[in-house]
Amino acid sequence: MSCKQAPLPEFTPSDIPDLTGYVAIVTGGNSGIGFETTKQLAMRNARVYIASRSQQRVDEAISQMNVAAGRSLDLHFLQMDLQDLQSVKLAATLFAHQESHLDILINNAGVMTVPFKLTKDGYETQIQVNFLALFVFTTTLLPLLLSTASRYNTRDRVRVINVCSDLAFMGPKTIQFDDLNMTNTKGMMELMQRYGHSKQAAIRHAKELNDRYSHQGVTAYSCHPGIVRSNLQTHDPTIMGKTVRTLMKYAASMTPLDGSINSLFLATSPLAPGKGQGKFFIPVTKVNPKADDWLNDRETNARLWEHSLSILAQIP
Ligand SMILES: NC(=O)c1ccc[n+]([C@@H]2O[C@H](COP(=O)([O-])OP(=O)(O)OC[C@H]3O[C@@H](n4cnc5c(N)ncnc54)[C@H](OP(=O)(O)O)[C@@H]3O)[C@@H](O)[C@H]2O)c1
Repeated sequence: MSCKQAPLPEFTPSDIPDLTGYVAIVTGGNSGIGFETTKQLAMRNARVYIASRSQQRVDEAISQMNVAAGRSLDLHFLQMDLQDLQSVKLAATLFAHQESHLDILINNAGVMTVPFKLTKDGYETQIQVNFLALFVFTTTLLPLLLSTASRYNTRDRVRVINVCSDLAFMGPKTIQFDDLNMTNTKGMMELMQRYGHSKQAAIRHAKELNDRYSHQGVTAYSCHPGIVRSNLQTHDPTIMGKTVRTLMKYAASMTPLDGSINSLFLATSPLAPGKGQGKFFIPVTKVNPKADDWLNDRETNARLWEHSLSILAQIP
């Protein structure tokens, strides 16, 4: 008799369970991977908030989703600009007043290899948009996530997903606490290094969040969506940037729907918690042990958490 487990079936949108009664937020849900993620959740009857900076782009996206679904989906706009930490904290605070629960948070919005520039908060754009704002948003929503989890007997309904990238491994080996903006990083790879650094921080954050709160029913995951044809732009003028642009344009075989599968699996599948809470997933629905050195580095992850908390504490 063989003790071998049968391979898990590949996850498809039709495997998303009915989400009636669920409330979800997808950041950057108006475009690319986030658009498809939002649409699929809403088509399974979740109420979904698109947290984004442009009311007009979100309204257009909602119209397109309603047309695709052939009905009016339960979709809403939540205004926030990840380049403005005060607006991120305010959005989370307003949301917590407006809704009595939050089951799924998908931190999907991001920018890639944009030129070095400081935000009004004084942080380099990529570290702020891809990580610090995600931390501020999630931490401000944490009381609501925890109170939602306390209402259910199951320990895996409330989930946070950080959409990260395999390019995290192109960044530095660890978090640059002495120079979070990576001001001193120069050369052909500097924009990619900063992108990788910001995504590494988001991978570590999901693990730390899971370590701290999974026993109270809030679980977290990070994932790479694949190389996807989306609106994600690299503005890097170097040869490296041009290569990535060409790759995104011609070699990306995945559609935004393909790219949404990992997020959808981690947010909704009953199989996800057993596969690896806190872990980093690659397409499709597979744990990538390449990130394990970061995930097991509890000292740095805890330090990053505390450092980010001190940044959050300074936001009015
Ligand atoms: N595409 C890929 O091959 C790939 C590979 C690895 C990882 N990823 C990750 O996947 C995620 C989704 O990217 P995508 O490919 O779907 O790109 P996309 O089509 O450009 O979508 C990015 C989303 O992020 C939003 N966003 C950017 N800056 C923001 C800000 N300051 N405030 C609020 N929202 C902001 C954008 O809003 P606007 O429409 O207002 O700009 C947009 O909705 C990103 O985190 C990206 O790093 C993508």
